[in-house]
Amino acid sequence: MSPIIGESPVTHKVHLTYISVVLLGPKTGNKEEIVKGCFQVIQNRSNHMLTNVFCLSTTMAKKVAVIGAGASGLVCIKCCLDEGLEPTCFERTDDIGGLWKFKEIPEEGRASIYRSVIINTSKEMMCYSDFPIPDDYPNYMHNSKILNYFRDYAKHFNLHKYIQFKTLVCSIKKRPDFSSTGQWDVVTETEGKQKSAVFDAILVCTGHHTDAHLPLDSFPGIGKFKGQYFHSRDYKNPEGFKGKRVVVIGIGNSGGDLAVELSRTADQVYLSTRRGSWIVNRVADYGYPVDMLTSSRFLGFFKRTLPLSVINWLAEKKLNRRFDHANYGLKPQHGLLNQHPMVNDDLPNRIISGTVLVKPNVREFTETAAIFEDGTVEENIDVIVFATGYHFAFPFFDNSVLNVRNNQVSLYKYVFPTHLEKPTVAVIGLIQPLGAIMPISELQARWATRVFKGLNNLPTEENMNMDMQEKKEQMARRYVSSQRHTIQVDYLDYMDELAILAGVKPNVLALWLTDPKLAKEVFFGPSTPYQFRLTGPGKWDGARNAILTQWERTLKPTRTRLIEDRRNRSSVPLLLKVFFFLTLALAIILYL
Ligand SMILES: Cc1cc2nc3c(=O)[nH]c(=O)nc-3n(C[C@H](O)[C@H](O)[C@H](O)COP(=O)(O)OP(=O)(O)OC[C@H]3O[C@@H](n4cnc5c(N)ncnc54)[C@H](O)[C@@H]3O)c2cc1C
Ligand SMILES: NC(=O)c1ccc[n+]([C@@H]2O[C@H](COP(=O)([O-])OP(=O)(O)OC[C@H]3O[C@@H](n4cnc5c(N)ncnc54)[C@H](OP(=O)(O)O)[C@@H]3O)[C@@H](O)[C@H]2O)c1
Repeated sequence: MSPIIGESPVTHKVHLTYISVVLLGPKTGNKEEIVKGCFQVIQNRSNHMLTNVFCLSTTMAKKVAVIGAGASGLVCIKCCLDEGLEPTCFERTDDIGGLWKFKEIPEEGRASIYRSVIINTSKEMMCYSDFPIPDDYPNYMHNSKILNYFRDYAKHFNLHKYIQFKTLVCSIKKRPDFSSTGQWDVVTETEGKQKSAVFDAILVCTGHHTDAHLPLDSFPGIGKFKGQYFHSRDYKNPEGFKGKRVVVIGIGNSGGDLAVELSRTADQVYLSTRRGSWIVNRVADYGYPVDMLTSSRFLGFFKRTLPLSVINWLAEKKLNRRFDHANYGLKPQHGLLNQHPMVNDDLPNRIISGTVLVKPNVREFTETAAIFEDGTVEENIDVIVFATGYHFAFPFFDNSVLNVRNNQVSLYKYVFPTHLEKPTVAVIGLIQPLGAIMPISELQARWATRVFKGLNNLPTEENMNMDMQEKKEQMARRYVSSQRHTIQVDYLDYMDELAILAGVKPNVLALWLTDPKLAKEVFFGPSTPYQFRLTGPGKWDGARNAILTQWERTLKPTRTRLIEDRRNRSSVPLLLKVFFFLTLALAIILYL
């Protein structure tokens, strides 16, 4: 459909050109080009005393329903606005932030955290790509600070007005003419009243840490147990556990955090694990955030080139230098990168002080005791905490749209169902990265909104299925079999994959030629989200500066008592410098 161009009546000396850009249907070509075309025509008519121009879109921008106003939902609203789409966000609770909004009592249908949760991804790595976290915020923030950041983000981009709070999305169904329109009927409920509306596209941002996985069947005798037991989702603070003997089951990040916190109050904590875990520190070499030191493109090159077993061996050697995982009862059979990592700086201290004792899996519970698989028995147990993870579902869709079985779901790039006639539904944030979720949700949303607009196309169903199958096989080869390992992604590799699709991957080679200072930081420095704002659609002018100042923002919050640095920086031996630059040159050549 081509644009309709016409002229409105002339009043006094004003020649008013009226342009109606009719953009119909989801796949009517490249709308940016059409709009550009309109302006070209206007320019060509400048000899007609053109003094004022109106450009109207007679069919409105596409209406997009965003389900959930957590970290993923907020950024989806912003991405819709950036692409000229019309978002309406439905949030079942009365506030933004999703999981990061702490509440004393868990709310139905929303993730629930404990009061003390400190994030395990650092601020420069978890921020949205065009909105750095303030320099005085700590690198690893308490959940209340994270919520503040989301509030600032929503305020800055004026997102609140697009959110309908206390509104539950009950059902989303294809409209009868879906195969031609791609539209959906969305039924919502606000304070008991149901409403239905038609949307052109859906962004599902409902999170995947809401529904507790409570595998009681795996624990014979639990029914007889006379003490208290609950899932980590229901844990809020250590009050009430004074003098108690507690078994924590599961060695994910929840299990680790809860064991550490409870060990300061309880009489004794037993941390039970069926396969052990490697433990990574937030505070890495020289006190830098671990994810900033391990996420560079430079290291990414080696990760892709070397066999996983070699990388595991090197990394485990380093982790064991801090404390020997075998001596602490934690060493698993598998390698570091074969499991979602546990990040916990305090656990070894609690183990060495005897307040946490690591145990194997529980074979059976009695009325008062836990019998472990090695035959050991711990009597007088008061509390069992099941830190056994989560499962996810999309109750508002019927299975023909999205079918989840044992946390397995088929989505191209973890975003698009492949079997729909129109690509008008995208799931955002349904990934478990070795890194932060927020910037990944953002890049998924930038890509998805461009697909909705018809600016990017998806491959054929067959090719998408092949890609998904390959990813499933890769995941099965790499990770130990567990329902927590069904949506794993590596932060940088996956971000680059999405960035290529969205046309925003930085061209490191070109950068070396045009801006070596920036290139050095992009290649050797942490792969912070700003990198994906340097070029392409959604380019942000502040990205370069944000990258060049990222270490300043990292150091600011800890440098609260200034120490004069008397080291002579030029004393680095010349030979070392030459060696460094030769390695650098070699690495670049290999990388390219
Ligand atoms: C204890 C804990 C710590 C974590 N720490 C980290 C970390 O360090 N770094 C990291 O990157 N990730 C971490 N995560 C993962 C966490 O899920 C993400 O950080 C992030 O919260 C995901 O945001 P989201 O918007 O996708 O989902 P959520 O935050 O879960 O938000 C989903 C929103 O959707 C709403 N909703 C759900 N269903 C409906 C419906 N039918 N209708 C309307 N609204 C609905 C909910 O009310 C909620 O507000 C952690 C998870 C847990 C459990
Ligand atoms: N501070 C933080 O930032 C923080 C804190 C908490 C959570 N998180 C994040 O939140 C997400 C969820 O973490 P989580 O720790 O709640 O869940 P999780 O990562 O899924 O870990 C669940 C643990 O329970 C074990 N488990 C599950 N079923 C079991 C069974 N039947 N018997 C014995 N053990 C069983 C798992 O063992 P297997 O591995 O053997 O399956 C695993 O050790 C993760 O992304 C995590 O990083 C972050």
